[in-house]
Amino acid sequence: MLKQEIEDGEVSLADPAFRADVLRGFGSSPRAIPARWFYDRRGSELFEAITDLPEYYPTRTETAILRSACAEVATLAGEGRAVVEFGSGSSTKTPILLGAVAPAAYVPIDISGDFLRDSSAQLAAAFPGLPVLPVEADFMRPIPLPTQVADLPKLGFFPGSTIGNMIPHAATDLLRAMKASLGEGAMLLIGMDRIKDEHVLTAAYDDAQGVTAAFNLNLLERINRELGGTIPVDKFRHRAVWNDDRARIEMHLEALEAVSFTIEGRGFEMAAGETIHTENSHKFGARDARILLRAGGWTPIAEWTDPDGLFAVILAEAQPARLAP
Ligand code: TRP
Repeated sequence: MLKQEIEDGEVSLADPAFRADVLRGFGSSPRAIPARWFYDRRGSELFEAITDLPEYYPTRTETAILRSACAEVATLAGEGRAVVEFGSGSSTKTPILLGAVAPAAYVPIDISGDFLRDSSAQLAAAFPGLPVLPVEADFMRPIPLPTQVADLPKLGFFPGSTIGNMIPHAATDLLRAMKASLGEGAMLLIGMDRIKDEHVLTAAYDDAQGVTAAFNLNLLERINRELGGTIPVDKFRHRAVWNDDRARIEMHLEALEAVSFTIEGRGFEMAAGETIHTENSHKFGARDARILLRAGGWTPIAEWTDPDGLFAVILAEAQPARLAP
């Protein structure tokens, strides 16, 4: 974070990129704020709590799929790959994979150095002798990997259906960037949430205890805290809606009545019922998932789901260039 002097001489710790995204997002129509700003300390804690909620099936379902599939993944991928995780790694999912595939190295990539250091230290302790080589970078672009893994074949790992938090255009860009980062002969193990009953979906993103609501509303609190905002947070509510046309859950913050407030001295007004769009979580039919992967340069070679077909884990290999058809 950059220190920055504001007019009255107070020192503000606001990240200039956060300020720019918020001012642009509140001023645009429809209003929207990039989801990456959810994850301050409080937001990260609330997100952890979401993954344990009874309604939030993805985390526990994917974990169970990984447990039962990892022996087959090991057979298909072979030993001695460098496992490259996009995101800083979870304390439950990552050890399942590392324990099964006997990797030659583990490379977690994350934009947040803090998370990266914590999770790298934990994994290094759990796998003595495994080289853990964290890379602090934005994985949306191709990333040069540590020289120690240059000659090793790679196995990318991208769990959590995080690919679904991108619109399809960005998702294929990311898949291509991953292919470029991982190089020739790479494989990718990716979690993708399935389309299912709408009520199961909306409940997963609007739980009875209100944890997801608190997570979404924390974005407004964060704006008030870090950008000196005067948003009346109690005049907003969390909304999770299924957009069937786009096959995604959308999270919004809806004004309950007409409100006016300032952010860094700039005035904003919202009418009752107007919303700020804060997150998308796309869901994929079995064929949708495979088409998206192919569009991003990856050929699916195996896939696993839970008995209820709620979630899928797919193993893909980097598509060789081909001319026809
Ligand atoms: N990718 C997961 C999902 O879409 C986790 C996630 C990202 C999430 N942003 C979220 C979960 C916001 C709840 C709310 O489910």
